[in-house]
Amino acid sequence: MKVVIASDHAGYELKELVKKQFSDSMDFEDLGTHSTESVDYPDFAHPLAEKVGKDTELFGILICGTGNGMSMTANKHANVRAGLCWSADIAALARQHNNANVLVLPARFIPAETAFDIVDTFFHTGFEGGRHMRRVEKINL
Ligand code: RB5
Repeated sequence: MKVVIASDHAGYELKELVKKQFSDSMDFEDLGTHSTESVDYPDFAHPLAEKVGKDTELFGILICGTGNGMSMTANKHANVRAGLCWSADIAALARQHNNANVLVLPARFIPAETAFDIVDTFFHTGFEGGRHMRRVEKINL
């Protein structure tokens, strides 16, 4: 499965750990950043959201310190539903109810093991459709 992934400096180390942990099951396209040198999260969220918004088959992972900056930026893009997830339960619901296509992780607030659990749950949970489809269709402006 192809997954685009990006982070800022605060998410860099977790991004590298996630890539390593899921290297057998996911084919990552890494859009950066590539070090812990300070960068601006929109410079990484916009290119990833551009790709995901244009490809209905594609999923993304964004990581910053809180997850808020990445979420706010990615959700400016049409057809992008970025969900900030800090537990596996939230990740499951982001898929089941919101058909999230971008998983956002708050690197400074969750341990790596929790992040792995969230990633695993997100990518093994489907959209429920039904009443949630109607709601998701109302998201785009
Ligand atoms: C960087 O210090 C931090 O502001 C960023 O990673 C993120 O948390 C922003 O929302």
